[in-house]
Amino acid sequence: IQKLYDNSNLSRDEFTLLIDNIDENDYEFLFNLARKRKEEYYDKSVFMRALIEFTNYCKQNCNYCGIRASNSKVERYRLSKEQILECSDEGYRLGYRSFVMQGGEDPFFSDDLLCDIVKSIKYKYPDVAITLSVGEKSMESYKKLKEAGTDRYLLRHETASKELYESLHPNMSFDNRRNCLFILKELGYQVGAGFMVGLPNQKTSDFVNDLEFLKELNPEMIGIGPFIPHEDTPLGSSIGGTVEKTLVMVAITRLLLPSALLPSTTALGTLDSKGREKALKAGANVVMPNLSPTNVRELYELYKDKICTGDEAAHCRKCIEVRINSTGYSVDMGRGDHSEWGK
Ligand code: 5AD
Ligand code: FES
Repeated sequence: IQKLYDNSNLSRDEFTLLIDNIDENDYEFLFNLARKRKEEYYDKSVFMRALIEFTNYCKQNCNYCGIRASNSKVERYRLSKEQILECSDEGYRLGYRSFVMQGGEDPFFSDDLLCDIVKSIKYKYPDVAITLSVGEKSMESYKKLKEAGTDRYLLRHETASKELYESLHPNMSFDNRRNCLFILKELGYQVGAGFMVGLPNQKTSDFVNDLEFLKELNPEMIGIGPFIPHEDTPLGSSIGGTVEKTLVMVAITRLLLPSALLPSTTALGTLDSKGREKALKAGANVVMPNLSPTNVRELYELYKDKICTGDEAAHCRKCIEVRINSTGYSVDMGRGDHSEWGK
């Protein structure tokens, strides 16, 4: 752990040794160093991003995901352009200057429509940062969305092991995933990658692949969350990830990529009522409160028992602030760019 802190890297064998042998006696040492490193780059700030889940239609069939195309039990919804703009009005009023528009891979939202929505928000609120998270697209599409004003793009790599990736994602390839991420980087987006912890058959070597992939890609953001089984998916009876293992991976990632933006994920808050606070104390520095209209929140169910589905945006805004303050950190409502962005 000390060596990882000193060198911001380890060899494959050293990572394997660390991940295989770390236990609760070492957690405090690891988490404290991760927190220290986070504070060197971002001080006591935790950035807020308002999440708008604008469509739960999806053409993909990821085996873990509750809104996969074949799940006929989900009631599908799409927000209209007007509804999305109303969400951004509400978010802006609450003080948010960073918005994440996330959805399934929904062809209804063409490049032109997405560009129009992004431009409309940017025209009204030039001081906000807009992040899109709508899956794999062509270089041309990513380019148009960038030119329309999109600042950032989230596309978790999910797992960097080709075989595991392809067993979880019917008709998708890890090579394309990887390609998309490198294209996004090249186009000048601030890029978010990330992976799940506790996938079926996920081994230490898979985590080491994730770490090596992240070091190579050097994304601005890295989302790490536990896999939580959803009953209406092929992986419904799997075990899922633990809070502890997820926190360990968050802390290791902080030491590996010291300046990264690391969200304290909603999935962690779902497994443990103090999960998000624990992540902030293990090196995370971003939270993404939900801004979706309450009447659709339950329908964006990627995994079971997702939190905040009954809460108003204003409630989550306050709730999160109290939680952040309880960790000794403070809320930063700015755009929350990566520390090296624009330098
Ligand atoms: N458990 C945890 N995380 C999930 N995601 C999708 N389904 C699940 C699940 N069952 C994550 C994926 C995706 C992100 C938006 O949500 O990593 O990239
Ligand atoms: Fe939504 Fe706490 S963040 S209720």
